[in-house]
Amino acid sequence: MKTLEVVNPKMDERRIRPEMTVREINARYPACRAVFARHGMGGCGGELGPDEPLEFFAAAHRVDLCCLTAELERAAAGGQVETVTPALEFEKKLSRLYKSYIRAAIGITLTFGTAWGAHILATIALNRSFDAPNYAGTQAHGHAQLYGWVGLFIMAVAYFSLPKILNSRLRSLAPAWIAFGLMLTGILLRAVAQPLAAEPLFGWLVLASAVAELAAVGLFVGDAGRLLARGVAPARGFRWFVGASLTSFLALAALNLALVVPLWREHGTVIADPANSRFLHLAVFGFIINMILGYSLRLLPIFLGLRPTRERLLLPAFLLYNVGLAARLFGGGLAAGMLMFAGMALYVLALRILEPSAGEVKARGVDASFPWFVRLAYGWFVIATTMVLGGDVYTIMTGAAPAHIYTGAWRHAVTVGFITTMMVGLGYRLLPLFAGVDLWRPSWMQASFWLLAVGNTTRVVFQLATATGERWAYLVMGTSGVMELTALALFGVAIAKTFAARQNVLFTPEQISPRTHVRWLLDNFPQAREELARAGLRHVRTAVHIPYFVTLEQAARIHGVEVDGVVEHLRQTLGGATPAAASADESKMAS
Ligand code: HEM
Repeated sequence: MKTLEVVNPKMDERRIRPEMTVREINARYPACRAVFARHGMGGCGGELGPDEPLEFFAAAHRVDLCCLTAELERAAAGGQVETVTPALEFEKKLSRLYKSYIRAAIGITLTFGTAWGAHILATIALNRSFDAPNYAGTQAHGHAQLYGWVGLFIMAVAYFSLPKILNSRLRSLAPAWIAFGLMLTGILLRAVAQPLAAEPLFGWLVLASAVAELAAVGLFVGDAGRLLARGVAPARGFRWFVGASLTSFLALAALNLALVVPLWREHGTVIADPANSRFLHLAVFGFIINMILGYSLRLLPIFLGLRPTRERLLLPAFLLYNVGLAARLFGGGLAAGMLMFAGMALYVLALRILEPSAGEVKARGVDASFPWFVRLAYGWFVIATTMVLGGDVYTIMTGAAPAHIYTGAWRHAVTVGFITTMMVGLGYRLLPLFAGVDLWRPSWMQASFWLLAVGNTTRVVFQLATATGERWAYLVMGTSGVMELTALALFGVAIAKTFAARQNVLFTPEQISPRTHVRWLLDNFPQAREELARAGLRHVRTAVHIPYFVTLEQAARIHGVEVDGVVEHLRQTLGGATPAAASADESKMAS
């Protein structure tokens, strides 16, 4: 915890109050932006920061509220504005990056991922047989979901949030953009080429896709690993789980390449078991779940107001879980299942995620259903890990592997019940916060929740019921794909609309200066066009496109008028503009 010398202005002179939002403070006292930047805000929430109370920021960035308030009071009093522009410019570029990753992840799950999955499921249901679909297609669906939907999503959140959590910085975004191009190419090539890989050309494309994905993962793990090594660990256990996830991701990409080489050489289309199952286990339990467990330690106690984490349980949880995982990858049966189960149980006890909250749930700007996603997801994590152990016990008792429908049922319980439900719940809460805008249609969250919850439960239960061979069991199971696809489509639309929204900008006269960009003014305050013309910048009245880099200073020079007069006129005339009025007009026009 950071400690600083406390200044104690008289109560009524205080400028900074705990209930003020970060955005309000930055708008009123631009000098405070540097203080927030020092504590890891970065571009979270856009130019003025998130519309969250100061006390939430202090908790999220683990800074003592009292010291932070003192530091802000000093900055506000001093009025000295440190140049944060380069950092903000970098954050704007970082925002463009993570939004591209997220859009691609959603685009892939709504096509090669969940939509294709729903189609495969319908084929199984209508033919009453799990052998009916082309299995190479099923594997390509699984790959698109693991690398595309989940992989790109995790890379987006890590690129945007790891520097802030670890109070460190990426030196350049070039590797991240190259990784994006390589990853997307690899995933799309694999989805198209694997089912056709009996043809030599497509065999080469599958090989090329694995090489591209390995290069992309290498770049990402390099960046994230450097941040983890350089940064300050925020929460006990965060670094262990995130480190294990990054290591698993790199091993996964290398294993993927090793598994497709025989496919290419022998013109095959399907990766055989047990290699395929081990690959899927490393992907799901190694890369993805370790990342979720690391971030959960960092985020959930604050966002859900959980009781204090039982920190002494974290190391045994981490070791049991990951030793169990490693044992599984080397063929370990019951022992591997028991170790992972014990690790999961200790982790859930440590995080206290299935206990009632002690504090307030931070659900500002989203629907009250936000915590439902997280708690339901962890419920499915417990169920799925228990089912894995159940399968191991069955094998010990019978000497046979569990039935395909059983393995498929727990796999869906973990990929949709735990992973996807967590992603959608946290996505609804975090992505608007990152972007500095309000979530579009928060009411849609409940629909997504129930469609995912009922869809996944239907799949798991009725997939097991297909053991009866009954037609109704297959048909009911088949409907679950449509429910889950609809849930993800609602999420996709809401996030796309949210990303398209303009940041609500709180207007204060201090914001207007000769360096203010004309386009920023017009984007956020359409009425500024008339006022600019009245102040002497007459061409603005009819100008269709004004480049973003044009400042008031430059425009005034072009029009041969004094910029100070223009600035003064805008401060007076726009003084009345409130963000709500401005953005409300914007969104009414947008919807
Ligand atoms: C949300 C809706 C989804 C639907 C309707 C769906 C549908 C399916 C179906 C029908 C199968 C074949 C089942 C079998 O033969 O037993 C399957 C397999 C699979 N799915 Fe999905 N899935 C969905 C989501 C996901 C997600 C979110 C992931 C990963 C994060 C995922 C990863 C996989 C994997 C890895 C396999 C096994 C592939 C293999 O055997 O190599 N699925 N899915």
